[in-house]
Amino acid sequence: MSSNTSADLHTDPSLYSGLDVYAVAGNPIAHSKSPNIHQRFAEQSKQAIHYGRLQPDLDGFVKAAKIFFSAGGKGMNVTVPFKLDAQAFADELTMRAQLAGAVNTLWVRDGKIYGDNTDGAGLVRDLLAQGIAIHESRILLLGAGGAARGVIGPLLEQSPKCLVIANRTSTKADELVKLFANLAAAKEVALESRTLSDLENSEKSPYPFDLVINATAAGLSDASPLSAAAVVNVFTPSSFAYDMVYGKTTAFMQQALQRGARISDGLGMLVEQAADAFLLWRGTDLAKQIDPRSVLATLRS
Ligand code: ATR
Repeated sequence: MSSNTSADLHTDPSLYSGLDVYAVAGNPIAHSKSPNIHQRFAEQSKQAIHYGRLQPDLDGFVKAAKIFFSAGGKGMNVTVPFKLDAQAFADELTMRAQLAGAVNTLWVRDGKIYGDNTDGAGLVRDLLAQGIAIHESRILLLGAGGAARGVIGPLLEQSPKCLVIANRTSTKADELVKLFANLAAAKEVALESRTLSDLENSEKSPYPFDLVINATAAGLSDASPLSAAAVVNVFTPSSFAYDMVYGKTTAFMQQALQRGARISDGLGMLVEQAADAFLLWRGTDLAKQIDPRSVLATLRS
C-alpha cells in the first residue's frame, strides 16, 4: 500500500492559491462530514476557504501534518485515531486541550502550531440547544477513554449536581476522577467513579440519572455498555440518553427508549465542535453569522 499524501486527497494547500486551506485528518476519513459542515459555515459567513480531507497512514500523522502546514495549510481538524498524535505535534496547547489529553483542532500562527479541543464544548452546546439542563443535574458518563476524558472538563464547568464516571476497567475511571478532582471541588460537583457492573447494584449510585452519556466505543460494534440489570437502575422516563456515535440508533439508545427516556445521537456535537473550530480559525466575530443548528438540520434531512 502506498502512503496517502496530502496531494492524493486533493488537500495540498499549494493547489489552492488565494484560498485559506483547512482539512480534517483521520483514518479512515472518506465518510467524514466535516468538509460539508465547514463549507456551510464558510458560505454562511462569506469566507473564501477550501476544506479537504487527509488520510495519513496509521503511523504517519506527524509526517502528513508537517507536509500540510509547510505547504501553507492554515488549520486542521483531527479525528480518530490521531488526537493524541495531534496533541504531541502542537507547540502550544490551550488549557482545555491539556485537560482533555487530546487535540481535535490545530492551527498555525506566527510559525507556531496551536492545539485545542472543542469536543466537550460542542457536547455541552448541543445538549443546551436540545433543552437539556446540565446545571444541578445528575450525570452518568459511560467510558473512560479519550472520548470521555475530552468532555469531563466542560461538563464540570456547568456545575452539575454529580458526575459519575463508569467504566468496564475501574482503574481508568479512578484515574479520571483524580485528574479532575480539583475542578470538581471548585465547581462543587460530586465526582465519583464506578465499574459498569456497579451499575447493576441499586445501592451503589445516586440513581436514577437525568443525563446518561455514552462515550464508550461499544456502540461502534452494536453493543451497549449497560446490562439489562443496569438499565433498570440508570434510566427513568425523565432521563435523557446521549450517544456520541451518530447516524444510527445504537443498542444503548434502544435501551433508553424502552425505559421511556428521550435520546439523541452525537451529530449535534459533531456540528457544534466544528463551529468552535471554525471560529478559532476565522475569528469569533463571525459567531453571529454562522448557524450550527441549521447546518445540523440540513445534515439530518
Ligand atoms: P476513545 O478515544 O473512543 O474513547 P479508547 O480510549 O480506546 O477510545 O476508549 C474506549 C472506551 O470504550 C473505554 O472506556 C473502553 O472501556 P475499557 O477502558 O474498559 O477498555 C470502552 N469500551 C470499548 N468497548 C466496550 C464494550 N464492549 N463495553 C463497554 N465498554 C467498552
